[in-house]
Amino acid sequence: MVSSIPHLLLILLLFTVLTHNSSFEDDFSNEQQPNGFFLPFESNLYVEITIGTPTRNFNLKLDSSTHLTFLECDPCDDGDEHQCSISDTTRRYDGKSSTTFSPISCTNSSLCPLLSPNATTHDNTTTTTTSSLSLLCTPSNSCRYDVSSFSAGYLVSDTLQLTSSITDQENSLSIVRGFVFGCGTSNRVTPEDDGGGVDGRVSLTTHHFSLLSQLRVTRFSHCLWPSSAGSRNYIRLGSAAEFGGDMMLVPMLDTTETSSYSYHIPLLGISLEEQRMRSNETSTIAVDIGTYYTRLEASLYEKVKEELMTQIGPTVAYEVNELMCFTTEVGLEIESLPIVTLHLQGFNFTISNKGLYLRDSPSSFCTALVRSTTEDEEKNVLGASGLVDYLVGYDTSDRVLAFQQRDCLADFVDGI
Ligand SMILES: *[C@@H]1O[C@H](CO)[C@@H](O)[C@H](O)[C@H]1NC(C)=O
Ligand SMILES: *[C@@H]1O[C@H](CO)[C@@H](O)[C@H](O)[C@H]1NC(C)=O
Ligand SMILES: *[C@@H]1O[C@H](CO)[C@@H](O)[C@H](O)[C@H]1NC(C)=O
Ligand SMILES: *[C@@H]1O[C@H](CO)[C@@H](O)[C@H](O)[C@H]1NC(C)=O
Ligand SMILES: *[C@@H]1O[C@H](CO)[C@@H](O)[C@H](O)[C@H]1NC(C)=O
Repeated sequence: MVSSIPHLLLILLLFTVLTHNSSFEDDFSNEQQPNGFFLPFESNLYVEITIGTPTRNFNLKLDSSTHLTFLECDPCDDGDEHQCSISDTTRRYDGKSSTTFSPISCTNSSLCPLLSPNATTHDNTTTTTTSSLSLLCTPSNSCRYDVSSFSAGYLVSDTLQLTSSITDQENSLSIVRGFVFGCGTSNRVTPEDDGGGVDGRVSLTTHHFSLLSQLRVTRFSHCLWPSSAGSRNYIRLGSAAEFGGDMMLVPMLDTTETSSYSYHIPLLGISLEEQRMRSNETSTIAVDIGTYYTRLEASLYEKVKEELMTQIGPTVAYEVNELMCFTTEVGLEIESLPIVTLHLQGFNFTISNKGLYLRDSPSSFCTALVRSTTEDEEKNVLGASGLVDYLVGYDTSDRVLAFQQRDCLADFVDGI
């Protein structure tokens, strides 16, 4: 049966030593730019980060639609009764027990208004909003945040460490002092929603508060191998990122006020083998490593489903946990199932069958495709399962994505 995404141990792997303060606290001129490093994550899309003094480790889900990294904080009981999402209090972040913790107040920091283009003044408070982050200076001078109704609490800062246990380099530690994140006191996303074991989310957007911005990297890349080949994958950050060369470059669309994803591109159509299904003229697709299953707008989803049924032959379609599933003859190989191609600008992106199809039983399989709901802000999302065996590079300052089909596992093993 298709089960939830596996939960596995995490290790951080870094190749360089870097110590710097958060970009909010000093100027850039005199700054050590981080060199490249590898940030491992498991197929459940978690990374492990270390925060505070003394240090504590947290498992955070990669998220390229939330602008703020956040953790559940202890105490987390200032609101209605559903605020605490982690029942094990020892897994919550507690600023009082960290000597490097600092609350962010509105008076000694310009952070609260800084990040919000659309500041409006309500009486004695200032609210700012982007599609997924709103900040509010409270009368008591603390900076309250709310991200996409997942989590609300206070902006704080503490020391962030990314450490390595695999590199043979002696000093494999990256330290960001004054890393700004959300201390969640009201959390509506439960660890179960994220597959279990999650203490919060790490922001991979281009926002000032994202991990990328605070590490001062504008490039990252990943090359995901199928989870059946082993659980650990890597995000390459900074100079370790692979980008350019003979990769196909696709300019990102500008993000609109309402789009919650950071990286999206035009989607011209989808093909199953040779059969082409046109999407709407204005269709776009978000590329999101933090989403596992690929999501399609309902009309396109139905067409793909219908075409899959035609091409597979006599079959029964059913759904398991929203996944599109089919019966087949016994023992049909995944490699022989229809190939799905996304038509992007100037480039056809062939989804790897290793990522697209999951065996459900000897005579059935599921496709890693789900139907968008009407509430989903972005109708089409190319998730991690659809990115398997592609090198995907992001240049967040030039706003370009780069793609190249690869055998990611072979490439990484050979490359290290
Ligand atoms: C805000 O002021 C407090 C008290 O002076 C200080 O400890 C803290 O580091 C300051 N925080 C920032 C972000 O400037
Ligand atoms: C602020 O919001 C208004 C509409 O509410 C919008 O037209 C404007 O573009 C926004 N400004 C910025 C800088 O995002
Ligand atoms: C705003 O602050 C002033 C002084 O701090 C206070 O007298 C007033 O009641 C506040 N107004 C609101 C709407 O909270
Ligand atoms: C285009 O969008 C309209 C309205 O959302 C929908 O009814 C139609 O089926 C879509 N066409 C395709 C090809 O997806
Ligand atoms: C993409 O595939 C279509 C056929 O589905 C073909 O006509 C087109 O030339 C291909 N585009 C590129 C850039 O290879």
